[in-house]
Amino acid sequence: MIEVNSLTKQYAGRTAVDGLSFTVEAGQCVGLLGPNGAGKSTTMRILAGYLSPSSGTARVNGFDVFHDSIKARRSIGYMPENAPLYLDMRVNEYLHFRGALKGLRGRELRKRGIDVMEACGLTASRRKIIATLSKGFCQRVALADALISRPPLLILDEPSNGLDPLQMRHIRELLAELRPQQTILLSTHLLGEVEQSCDRVLLIHRGQVCADDTPRNLVRKLRAATDVKLELQGQGPFEEELAKISGVRKITERKADGEWRRFTLRVEARADIRAVIFEVALQRHWHIRELHRELPSLEDVFVELTEGK
Ligand SMILES: Nc1ncnc2c1ncn2[C@@H]1O[C@H](COP(=O)(O)OP(=O)(O)O)[C@@H](O)[C@H]1O
Ligand SMILES: [Mg+2]
Repeated sequence: MIEVNSLTKQYAGRTAVDGLSFTVEAGQCVGLLGPNGAGKSTTMRILAGYLSPSSGTARVNGFDVFHDSIKARRSIGYMPENAPLYLDMRVNEYLHFRGALKGLRGRELRKRGIDVMEACGLTASRRKIIATLSKGFCQRVALADALISRPPLLILDEPSNGLDPLQMRHIRELLAELRPQQTILLSTHLLGEVEQSCDRVLLIHRGQVCADDTPRNLVRKLRAATDVKLELQGQGPFEEELAKISGVRKITERKADGEWRRFTLRVEARADIRAVIFEVALQRHWHIRELHRELPSLEDVFVELTEGK
């Protein structure tokens, strides 16, 4: 359904997307996961035909998104980031207008309008002026817009951005209903969102794919680390000595408690280095007040994975 090949986009000399390649099969729900600025929106805008690539190619449903833009776009329902809506229109008028732009006419247009409003929980709000809607409802309107022409591919750019937890749950439930019939590419910076909504995750960082896996495997990989927390006193340099221990990936110093220096060591999951630390401390005549292991949070490791590159 989607074939992206060595896609690159530069903005005034700065590279936003850097040789990106991936494919998405029909029926998959794939998440582009990455921190802000990773290049997710740029990639989606290119796929949706709103932006031209600097180099590389992308095809949707067999059509090149640049050279065969109109045909490619027919297969796509695109929900941009912070979707621009016509604020002075009513929900039903807006969807009618959008459906007509996408080639729907007459009874078909009216029926699709009613169906997508129903699917997106907008029926009771159909006569409301868009400007009066909450952010959550605006997102629903944007999603209804993306769905109206029954596109085989949905491209959703941070569909739950800016929503409160309840609104997020509504969007997630909606996606769960759509998933069986639809190919979906969605972007997010929230690990929890891909965990719940996607079959596959592409972890994007600085315009490149740095992992391509199932959410489960990705979570397992991200968990492949532990933290060792310790508090000690004595003759340094502590960091230099600790860094020599095999299995230590990263050392951060926390706020000292009086004479006691406090460190967190990120270590490979399989290495239990507590005994080694104890040996080193004995040799250096350090005093240890605390030495224990804990699992870092997923968010912590995610940040480490993407920031160190
Ligand atoms: N129109 C633009 N002009 C210049 N730089 C841009 C523009 N849009 C995005 N960028 C830059 O490109 C990079 C990727 O942005 P974006 O694709 O929006 O990332 P994401 O959606 O993952 O947050 C960022 O460094 C961003 O500042
Ligand atoms: Mg974005």
